[in-house]
Amino acid sequence: MGSREGRGQPVYNFDEKIDNSKLWGIRYDFRRISPFLTQESVYQDIIPLWVADMDFRTPEEVSAALIQSARHGVFGYTEPNGSYFNAVLAWHSRRYGFDFSRESMTVSPGVVFSIALSIDAYTQEGDAVLIQEPVYPPFSEVPRQKGRKVVVNELILVDGEYRIDFERFEAQIRDEKVRLFILCSPHNPVGRVWTAEELHKLGEISLKYGVIVVSDEIHADFVFTQASGGRIPRHTIFVSVDKRFQENTITLTAPSKTFNLAGLQASSAFISDKELRSAFVNAYKRSGYSQLNCAGLFAAYAAYTYGDRWLTELVSYLEGNIRYLSSALDKAPIDLIKPEGTYLLWLDCRKLRLNDRELKRFFIEKAGVWLHSGGVFGDSGKGFMRINIAVPRSVIKEAAERINKSAGDL
Ligand SMILES: Cc1ncc(COP(=O)(O)O)c(C=O)c1O
Repeated sequence: MGSREGRGQPVYNFDEKIDNSKLWGIRYDFRRISPFLTQESVYQDIIPLWVADMDFRTPEEVSAALIQSARHGVFGYTEPNGSYFNAVLAWHSRRYGFDFSRESMTVSPGVVFSIALSIDAYTQEGDAVLIQEPVYPPFSEVPRQKGRKVVVNELILVDGEYRIDFERFEAQIRDEKVRLFILCSPHNPVGRVWTAEELHKLGEISLKYGVIVVSDEIHADFVFTQASGGRIPRHTIFVSVDKRFQENTITLTAPSKTFNLAGLQASSAFISDKELRSAFVNAYKRSGYSQLNCAGLFAAYAAYTYGDRWLTELVSYLEGNIRYLSSALDKAPIDLIKPEGTYLLWLDCRKLRLNDRELKRFFIEKAGVWLHSGGVFGDSGKGFMRINIAVPRSVIKEAAERINKSAGDL
């Protein structure tokens, strides 16, 4: 890490390559999960750019909080106190100009856990849950596992940009009697940061039909104003668009993507409506889960309190990675979908004319890069791959070279 003096100069060194391969992190631990990789040699050389965590160290204040707690050495059941709630609320207020109330906030071990609780709390078996594919796989898996009917409102790709088919959205809600809508904002994997107008339309339709909105805003802190060109994206908290949306919305946020804390499991749910909140809290109690992991709370508190500058520099570094990848892939028959947000980029590989399985094999066996197959995000993701760019630039460079070379050999 460099000197902290000189306000304008970058302080953090995201170029540093950290060897994470000896940890139990799933990104590097291919052997447990891959149907493709069995040989040690292949395992060693592959560049893992799939699961959504980063290769960067969290801010040092976060590590310091964990070290301090480890030195203390007592890890009893822990409840967040007023300072914790204030730190989380202040983060959302200063970054998004929205003041969630203290009483609306509940902690939860994870966003997917909160999605599962919402499904338990607000729907019954057989009820319809609407999602917008291609989308983060638990959006379909969790409701399906719980016996809900999943209604897919596919996003449409127009002139290289994903859009919402609002007419179809409304018709599906009406005809399929949708009870709950899981919104991904910003959207993983297509990288859209929905505009206030788009969110307003979604909210109006949801209100009109009494649909409960679960707004997953875990990627809110990654919005790229430089790399996208054209419209300048800005994250808008869904409920901030119209006061009435507070009546039917569960907002989910977390420091886990933002500060690379996924393994520590701490997130927030904001529910203004009293009845919805008590149904959520009851579902939480029924789940058998009580206090969060204390380390997660300490880390989240430190991140939300001290992490602004680190995040600003990180986002700027990621924009550099996007610019680099975008120009490097110019030579390959692969189109990068314009990324507005999230550090997960969506590659249109349809010109390679490979099916989903062949594509995955191509990237692993020929290029030596491990990406997420588009088909995992729904049928409309087939022919696409998702790449995680939250790694040092040298790794992006190596990955781009490998992809270019292998695509050229096809
Ligand atoms: C949209 C989205 N929601 C939720 C999660 C996971 O959240 P958690 O680990 O808090 O369950 C991810 C992780 O990639 C994600 O992309």
